[in-house]
Amino acid sequence: MKFFIDTANIDEIKKAKQWGILDGVTTNPSLIAKEGITHKTRVQEILELVGDLPVSAECVESDYDKLIGEARDIASWAPNVYVKVPMTPTALEVVKELSPQGVNFNVTLVFSLPQALLAAKAGASFISFFVGRIDDMGSGEAAQNIADAVRMVKNYDFPKDPEILVASIRGPLQVTESIRSGAQIATIPYKIMEQLFHHPLTDIGVKNFYDDYVKATGKDVDLG
Ligand code: E4P
Repeated sequence: MKFFIDTANIDEIKKAKQWGILDGVTTNPSLIAKEGITHKTRVQEILELVGDLPVSAECVESDYDKLIGEARDIASWAPNVYVKVPMTPTALEVVKELSPQGVNFNVTLVFSLPQALLAAKAGASFISFFVGRIDDMGSGEAAQNIADAVRMVKNYDFPKDPEILVASIRGPLQVTESIRSGAQIATIPYKIMEQLFHHPLTDIGVKNFYDDYVKATGKDVDLG
């Protein structure tokens, strides 16, 4: 499963890159607003930082003519840009029009299996299935939804071979569920990526091994 970072923060992207686990970046207008910088400037900085890794940049227009113009513009920024559009009829019309021309789309704000099917039929490359916002409502359906969406893209033929991208992740449990479901991608906030390295038994084990070593040798570090 590929790990994308869900952020518009440059330092967080640098850190994830340094860990050697970064396969891509997703942004959205809310994440960019937190950074106090313009959309295009920040996405271009991210593109420069991550080389040819996929970077999702989101459209905000809703009228067809404006949205298709915005999508074309964002797609022209770099070949590895994935144009993010919301799950609306107008946005899917734009996907249907531009996807055969080589534009890669990430259809976002997907919460149900039929919505995922519509996005796949329109020609999406990534389908952003939100789990956190569903689980926040207490429905408990998110894990099953992702597993069903993964099966759906395997079962049928679609214009592109869409990848299920698990989004809106709130904690390590949802990362575990994403791996179990066979989802191709999970986009994870920096704070949760950091948590993935830890397990109480790992942390205690590291400490115990170190303490036993010091007890046996009487020294902190044996360079001999
Ligand atoms: C990803 O592409 C989404 O924009 C993001 O995961 C949304 O997460 P949120 O529900 O925490 O805002």
